[in-house]
Amino acid sequence: MKSSLICVAGTEEIITVNVDLGCRSYPVYVGSGLLNRPELLSRHVHGKQALVVTNTTIAPLFLDKAIKALQQENTEMTLETVILPDGEQFKNMESVIKVFDAAIEAGMDRRCTFVAVGGGVVGDICGYAASSYMRGVNFIQIPTTFMSQVDSSVGGKTGINYRVGKNLIGAIYQPKCVLVDTNTLNYLPNRELASGIAEAIKCGLVKDGKYFEWLENNIQALLARDPIAIAYAIKRSCEIKAGIVTLDEKENGIRAILNFGHTFGHAIETSCGYGNLLHGEAVAVGMSFVFWVEVVLLIVPDLTIFITATGDTIEANEELQEGEELLERANLEEGEEQV
Ligand SMILES: NC(=O)c1ccc[n+]([C@@H]2O[C@H](COP(=O)([O-])OP(=O)(O)OC[C@H]3O[C@@H](n4cnc5c(N)ncnc54)[C@H](O)[C@@H]3O)[C@@H](O)[C@H]2O)c1
Repeated sequence: MKSSLICVAGTEEIITVNVDLGCRSYPVYVGSGLLNRPELLSRHVHGKQALVVTNTTIAPLFLDKAIKALQQENTEMTLETVILPDGEQFKNMESVIKVFDAAIEAGMDRRCTFVAVGGGVVGDICGYAASSYMRGVNFIQIPTTFMSQVDSSVGGKTGINYRVGKNLIGAIYQPKCVLVDTNTLNYLPNRELASGIAEAIKCGLVKDGKYFEWLENNIQALLARDPIAIAYAIKRSCEIKAGIVTLDEKENGIRAILNFGHTFGHAIETSCGYGNLLHGEAVAVGMSFVFWVEVVLLIVPDLTIFITATGDTIEANEELQEGEELLERANLEEGEEQV
């Protein structure tokens, strides 16, 4: 996966990770203060209308900055905002309809741009709305949680929860760019930061043992928000995800490895009620559970383990076998992988 460092005189470095998907390729820009770099956004904004989607927590922190960044080099642009209620429990069709309503009321045409400013919840809702408004409009991600910076803003998965399960309704719809301003993390609660670190750990576990070791050695630096450690973790996680998504954008095979720990994690998250356990926390428990099952099966190989949550029963052995096959494939050289 190609990444580059652009050194800009008098300013911080900008790391660019490219997601190579032919005509749908896009850059992930990573750096501190990137919301003050309007030229990065302006090259990806189409048309003269933009709809910024955010939530009640993020709006007072970053909405003005995002609007300024969008309008500075597009002075004729008309801009509308949708401020959703905050929380996983609002990742639903009602929120998507709020986005559609705002776009329709503002007379947004097919050349408009939807911009998600927020964590994974806002990004997933806004992306899904962008995928279907006027059969698909331009979409930009400005992720503001560590979770969304290392994972959810990259790869094009968008969607909402349904009453019987997480992320059941959605689309694969790629953004035109992802702009990660690491300064946004200065406001993020510690628990949310730790939740995002779980997805970074997952990236190391599935694809890059050296990165996993680096995470082990630098976990305190990450928790202390050391800017160099944070930027590196975002870069490496995005590179790993981009590499896998490039091989299997629509998740017909190898991309499922990125769901490592998620089958159990989603079951736990759903049964705890959306919002009670953070997504990364549920994934962390799910990953630990995979290892626990591994150990149990080493001791008692013939055991069949069933997990029951919210009425669904998962056969752990099957999950594990599928996971092991995917891990093996993921550890082939990227170029060798046949999807
Ligand atoms: N699309 C994907 O590929 C993908 C991947 C992983 C997770 N997800 C989804 O992402 C969601 C979880 O994302 P998340 O962990 O970002 O949760 P989130 O979007 O709910 O954000 C967490 C909390 O932090 C607040 N917040 C956001 N940025 C902030 C900041 N800079 N400072 C202070 N507070 C801030 C939010 O308002 C919210 O209260 C789940 O719905 C999960 O299913 C999607």
